[in-house]
Amino acid sequence: MSAPGPGGVGTPRVEWRAAWTPAEGADRARAGFAAAFGGEPAGVWAAPGRVNVIGEHTDYNAGLCLPVALAHRTYVALRPRPDGVVRLVSAQEPTAWEGRLADVGPGTVQGWAAYAVGVAWALRGAGLDVPGFDAAVDSCVPYGAGLSSSAALEGAFAVALDDVVGAGLGAHDAGRARLVAACRRAENEIAGAPTGGLDQTAALRSVPGHALALDFRDGSVRPVPARLGEHALLVVDTRAPHRNADGQYAARRAACEDAARRLGLPSLREVTDLDAALDRLAADGAPPETGRRVRHVVTENARVTRAVALLAEDRVAELGPVLTAGHASLRDDYEVSCPELDVAVDAAVAAGALGARMVGGGFGGSALALVRREDVAAVAEGVGAAFAAAGFGTPALLVAEPSGPGGRVEPAGPVADAAGGAR
Ligand code: GLA
Repeated sequence: MSAPGPGGVGTPRVEWRAAWTPAEGADRARAGFAAAFGGEPAGVWAAPGRVNVIGEHTDYNAGLCLPVALAHRTYVALRPRPDGVVRLVSAQEPTAWEGRLADVGPGTVQGWAAYAVGVAWALRGAGLDVPGFDAAVDSCVPYGAGLSSSAALEGAFAVALDDVVGAGLGAHDAGRARLVAACRRAENEIAGAPTGGLDQTAALRSVPGHALALDFRDGSVRPVPARLGEHALLVVDTRAPHRNADGQYAARRAACEDAARRLGLPSLREVTDLDAALDRLAADGAPPETGRRVRHVVTENARVTRAVALLAEDRVAELGPVLTAGHASLRDDYEVSCPELDVAVDAAVAAGALGARMVGGGFGGSALALVRREDVAAVAEGVGAAFAAAGFGTPALLVAEPSGPGGRVEPAGPVADAAGGAR
């Protein structure tokens, strides 16, 4: 139960999730490929999960986010085939998938395969001559943990298919923006999840050692050096099952769109006077929770602006209260937290974290704590003890090391390595 954590420190009552090295991930994906299809793949590609430092539920409101890519990646071993057939297996999924690429469209693919084959469909729509393929997936991105395992899967297929057709989009940032768009279409139209683009951008446009300042109004992506120094980003996967997360996500998005409509604005990003906007929504008869949703989005954008400035000025410790305020807003105004997330945040802060908050869509998944490196073991122990006392399952922890974007792992070559070499 208590595998050694960072620095070899064993902490009771938590599990640690180490990232695979690229060689280990490639070996696993190649072994899965050989077992399912025989022979060698054309190559192995990978893309990372992400943790969002701050800026939650803002991406679909033309707002601001600040993610970092994880060293934890999803690996895809892939070989094109000439007959338009796609065959997929995953070490994380019991069911394989097989079908014709020409038959893929909205509503035709269920489950995990939608994220993979959806990218092939979207890249075809973007004009790439994507063939059929056999592909085997393996991943060390915690699944269903609010760390973007789905975008890591999409991103790995995007760079793989771009590479095998020789389109070269992965070789420069403008091309990567097109790959992000294809991944979003796959998720929105084939997997049917109305998500906003934060995850795919982090998976494909990150820079090692940096966070990404994302602005979903003007589409800009600005790397901000993440000089964490004596601080660590400790991620706590609560392993709480997502409870109706999809329906709740869609409802939050609809409430924000309704509010913008009532305010006569293109998006909530255009709210300049929060109190005036709340008054107007109340006068317009909007449900009370709509005002709270708007307050979260507007204050969260301000927290991102503040966090970007603090990071740029190397005032890392001062990020702590910003994270904790973000959690309160997600819990009380946006109402997307859950008991496990609240316990993780409160226990982390009580054990010495400088600040903590839930990350991702919510209703389960992970929390992020900003911790002095010397306090990582104590905070892990505090969270583990609080989970045991609350009767929750054992949490899984990892330290987020700001990493690079998706790319080719094998064969080594000029496109981009999985640690984010050439752009
Ligand atoms: C999920 C979605 C993202 C984003 C977050 C909340 O991760 O995929 O697009 O909306 O929730 O910030």
